[in-house]
Amino acid sequence: MKLSAFGEKFANESGITTLMDDLGHAFASGSDMIMMGGGNPAHIPEVERQLKARMQAILSSEADFRRLIGIYDPPQGEQSFVIAIRDLLNREYGWSLKSENIALTNGSQAAFFMLFNLFGGAFSDGSTKQIQLPLAPEYIGYADAGLGHDFFKANRPDIELIDSTTFKYHVDFSTLDITDRTGAICVSRPTNPTGNVLTDSEMERLNRLAIENDVPLIVDGAYGTPFPNLIFSEATPFWNDNTIMCLSLSKFGLPAARTGIVIAREDIVQALSGVNAILNLATGSFGSMMAYDLVKSGDIIRLSNEVIRPFYLEKAKRAEESLREKLAGLPFRLHKVEGAMFLWLWLEGCPINSQELYERLKRKGVLVVPGHHFFLGLDAPNDREWPHRNECIRITYSQEPSKVEKGLAIIAEEVRSAYSTQP
Ligand SMILES: Cc1ncc(COP(=O)(O)O)c(C=O)c1O
Repeated sequence: MKLSAFGEKFANESGITTLMDDLGHAFASGSDMIMMGGGNPAHIPEVERQLKARMQAILSSEADFRRLIGIYDPPQGEQSFVIAIRDLLNREYGWSLKSENIALTNGSQAAFFMLFNLFGGAFSDGSTKQIQLPLAPEYIGYADAGLGHDFFKANRPDIELIDSTTFKYHVDFSTLDITDRTGAICVSRPTNPTGNVLTDSEMERLNRLAIENDVPLIVDGAYGTPFPNLIFSEATPFWNDNTIMCLSLSKFGLPAARTGIVIAREDIVQALSGVNAILNLATGSFGSMMAYDLVKSGDIIRLSNEVIRPFYLEKAKRAEESLREKLAGLPFRLHKVEGAMFLWLWLEGCPINSQELYERLKRKGVLVVPGHHFFLGLDAPNDREWPHRNECIRITYSQEPSKVEKGLAIIAEEVRSAYSTQP
């Protein structure tokens, strides 16, 4: 029995599969592993209380219960939820979206798979196009989402050294090349893995570049505005006909519902609905129904701003402060903490690479993610030799404080011992 090229691609271990496997096994084994590797959102009591109340209301209504379990939604997604999202965004940002601008997907991960293959890969004129990631490192989950070879092209960042232990990545526009091989530009904002938030002026320049080159700008707002709004700095949202904005209910607290929301030009929404019909027949109704009231009333924004964002901000501050204290005296650098749920630690000149550090930490009972996975699409020989890509780790701080504190102490101890290792 032989697998096709498509089958081979997924049969071979890929970054995201290995990572999700690692995380899943550690959870399932019930071990005491401290999980600082995943992107699982925290369990926030106030959010869970609201979702539970909604679930109970659905269960006590015959009609709603039937809609939840017994009806295929259209491939574009559940219509009343689509309308509620449209109205929320138009109300909040003064946009003029129509329902036809919105498609739901089974998680935003699925949306990226569909979008990347709508704009990248083989074209009917014989050409092939790539998805341009203007700023490496980028979200590991994009890595294997292209069906063709040589699918992503990433750009090394400009690194701003803010002080002796803090840095920030910026898009290096002097080396960013948008060519006729570019099918789309994609950024996550806030960025997974770094917690970076691209500035408004960077977004404006990317927007202009995309329009000038007639390619879409895909903005991954899984952590962004208006929900869950895990943004601790300034970031103005924008949308126009050339933007494809991807939102998700996951980081709000519904990762198991698998609900992604794509806001795009009507023909793109139509194409997405078509692919969705083939892949899934219909989008699951669970997320739409669970979040409907919250979106319609706008409470999803209130909860994001008043509960979720402060919850993560407090965790971020505490984790950052603690790690800085524990690493004092070592040549470490932390990316400026601007959003999402991660610390991105750069250990310049460390005698062991991030993979080895990850292995050591795993043996000590702490799971992080070695940074090299996030440098997808950076394949030129000089980029492959760039030491920075093997000098970073991603640390998730969304768990309960005592575990985070314990995990950070183990990380710091291991880093200290790594720096004292002779190469
Ligand atoms: C940046 C980013 N985009 C997209 C996703 C996919 O999320 P989901 O499929 O749960 O919507 C994630 C998940 O961690 C993410 O970190």
